[in-house]
Amino acid sequence: MRTAFFPGSFDPFTIGHQALVEEGLRIFDKIIVAVGENSDKHGLLPMEQRKRLIEDVYRNEPRVEVVSYKGLTGDYCREHNLNLILRGMRNTVDFDYERNMMQINQRLYPEITTVLLFTPSEYVAVSSSVIREILSFGGSVEQFMPKGIDINNYLK
Ligand code: PNS
Repeated sequence: MRTAFFPGSFDPFTIGHQALVEEGLRIFDKIIVAVGENSDKHGLLPMEQRKRLIEDVYRNEPRVEVVSYKGLTGDYCREHNLNLILRGMRNTVDFDYERNMMQINQRLYPEITTVLLFTPSEYVAVSSSVIREILSFGGSVEQFMPKGIDINNYLK
């Protein structure tokens, strides 16, 4: 069984992330969506709420598991015998960032392969940071969230 580890801040998880998981499920038997910590980013939702939101999205999808972790992504994968990391790219800015992260992980954890997929084009402009920005000014983000998810239920 091929299992991919899909790490991210997911603050919050968006329709773009959801589209990527859908793509990933064409290739992998199972995807572990993993809420991690990006030391450069300011938080909107506490980790537990980010995880709960994603669990609610995949409540009826047995091929998707949701976890949260602290520390290095590669260490978590190694400890759990996971050797495929899935990441998405929207544009060339993402490309440079992802390539660097992939190369560092390759040096530190040679047994781990990173698989990079392009975000489907209709979601390229959607990002967690845009959602945080809209929310900070009191705007509506409903159309950028997975169907049935009301961000207000997770803002605590
Ligand atoms: O959604 P993001 O912010 O792009 O997710 C980034 C994340 C959390 C996957 C990345 O920052 C990460 O892996 N953090 C844990 C620390 C780590 O392993 N850094 C990579 C070494 S180059």
